[in-house]
Amino acid sequence: MRSVILLLLLIPTVSFANIWGRTGHRVTGHIAEKHLTKKARKAIKELLDGNSLAFASTYADEIKSDRSFSSYTPWHYVNYPFAKTYQESEKSEFGDIVVAIDKCINVLTDKNSSRADKVFHLKFLVHLMGDLHQPMHAGLEEDRGGNDIQVQWFGEGSNLHRVWDTNMLESYGMSFYELGNELNNATSKKERKTIQQGTIIEWLAESHDYANDIYKSVNVGEKLGYSYSYKYNSILFERLKKGGFRLAKVLNDVFS
Ligand code: ADE
Ligand code: ZN
Ligand code: ZN
Repeated sequence: MRSVILLLLLIPTVSFANIWGRTGHRVTGHIAEKHLTKKARKAIKELLDGNSLAFASTYADEIKSDRSFSSYTPWHYVNYPFAKTYQESEKSEFGDIVVAIDKCINVLTDKNSSRADKVFHLKFLVHLMGDLHQPMHAGLEEDRGGNDIQVQWFGEGSNLHRVWDTNMLESYGMSFYELGNELNNATSKKERKTIQQGTIIEWLAESHDYANDIYKSVNVGEKLGYSYSYKYNSILFERLKKGGFRLAKVLNDVFS
């Protein structure tokens, strides 16, 4: 009996189904890494002990398996109605992705922050700029960003949130490195500069608008597969690419 209780305690509170798949975060980090200023690159290298942004990008999901970090779970998303803007919406007392990104930027730019605090909030910022671009991280409260909308993915049980976090990327089959290079190389400098304009709230609003379309893209229980990928992969890739370029922009500003 005691060992059963012990086992139950070890089960993570949030399953890995809940993450903008690790590949997505790594793609965003890998693209951003290519567009850092010299100054930002140096500061980041020191804080991450020489590790890459792609490597650091999944830390914020890994700590979800430790209950002592449970207060950070609401940092990964924000839910609000489609009839409202983020500014008009009711805010969660536990924080949300916008408040969290702001907090990370503040810790990183405060000269009184400890190194440990800077490391933690840098890893979080790298992660959250990915989540900000996953449309279903800016969805509706009632179905937890599509987590409660069951669908099938190539015959296996899944949900609409998970399709966009993980399933589409897994089925596409490229590594984060290949997809990151591909998306980066296919973008001109001019396009990149245009993508890097705007604010966190404007970038969130893009995700929220896409979420509205994505909700309409399926029926509950629908069998999804090749034709869904064919139709929506271009949006997925656009979000990853924009997340990467904008992560670089935010980091360059933080470490300027
Ligand atoms: N939990 C509740 N809402 C969520 C969302 N939009 N994304 C991820 N996890 C959630
Ligand atoms: Zn997610
Ligand atoms: Zn996340």
